[in-house]
Amino acid sequence: MARRRAGSQPREDSEWAPERERELRSAVTSLLNWFSANARDLPWRKRTDPYHILVSEFLLQQTTVPVAVRYYEAFLSAFPTLEVLAQASLDEVLRVWAGAGYYARARNLRETAIRILKEHGGRVPADPEELIKLPGIGTYTANAIASLAFGVNVVALDANGVKVLSRLAGRKGMPRRGSFRRRLQEIAERVCPKGRAREFNQALMDLGSLVCTAENPRCGDCPVRRWCAAYRSGQPEEYPIRTEPTVREALYEVACVIFRDGLFLVGQRAPGRWWGHLWEFPRDRIGQGESSLLAAERLARERLSLSVRTRGLVASLRHSVTRYRIYLSAVLAEYQSGEPRSDTYVTFRWLPLSGLRDLPSSSPQRRIVQVLADVTQKGDQESLLAQIIEGSEGRMV
Ligand code: ADE
Repeated sequence: MARRRAGSQPREDSEWAPERERELRSAVTSLLNWFSANARDLPWRKRTDPYHILVSEFLLQQTTVPVAVRYYEAFLSAFPTLEVLAQASLDEVLRVWAGAGYYARARNLRETAIRILKEHGGRVPADPEELIKLPGIGTYTANAIASLAFGVNVVALDANGVKVLSRLAGRKGMPRRGSFRRRLQEIAERVCPKGRAREFNQALMDLGSLVCTAENPRCGDCPVRRWCAAYRSGQPEEYPIRTEPTVREALYEVACVIFRDGLFLVGQRAPGRWWGHLWEFPRDRIGQGESSLLAAERLARERLSLSVRTRGLVASLRHSVTRYRIYLSAVLAEYQSGEPRSDTYVTFRWLPLSGLRDLPSSSPQRRIVQVLADVTQKGDQESLLAQIIEGSEGRMV
């Protein structure tokens, strides 16, 4: 049986019966056999270096496995050891993270490396109670690092684990709700075989990813089907809960691409929830009934204390962040007068197009830079202007 999480109290469960526990144990045996033949070949599974596992678990927070795979090797080549990461500047870390999104993770990962260097002599702690004190590490991540890197016998249920176990045990609930997750955690702790949490955790993740998918689960291929309550119900996709498709709230924003003598104005955002510390063409919401060109002029005047002359739309792009769908219009504007000042940005720089690529910035901002690079030949603004037709829709990127 797996070690109990810190603070979790055994609870009586009226629906729990010893024979059900025996069934689940049989299911777990079959699951582990399936895993030994079908485990995904993921780069962070090749070795159990705790620093590598730490990096992979931060990347996997709020990101799909294919995206995490894409950034994992690049991150480790830039920061091959925990010491190198702890000594890197935040700018360097954000630059390598750029495009992976959810930048708070990069800040937390660097902070965590610094703390491990100071407080644990540079060795990632194996104890989940210690891990959870570090920035960006919650119950799941602490237990995942402890079990995957050190073989500590603790259960780590990620979203796939929650889904698989809720189906197997026939429990419905909101996957994000603490009480539901704790209930499943207790079930998992009862049935995880002693000393095998590392495989158990990964087997649940892989079954959830490869077979027990959210929509149209492939029950015909499932090694635990005969013990699965959701399969018996005939409606496995109703577990953990029937979800409505996410309706994202639309936000309309303008990015003002201000140029002057061959240089472009970018600002570094103050630390904050979204895109803190990253560089960007100044951005703002577009008001009700306002055109993107007027919004760009207003943004320059009111938010940056600059006077500009807008020249046209460079690009239109769509981007999703949490529950928002952002429609961003990038407007080219010629500098007229003023010194940039703002509360949103801690500092500004005028840079050539080539210099913009080296700054840590979000993926929509990088796409705007790419469009600018595509439409300029040799980086000169005359050809850029020549290609931007006033009032055009810009490029959809
Ligand atoms: N999701 C979160 N952690 C994971 C891991 N180690 N492997 C695959 N998917 C994951």
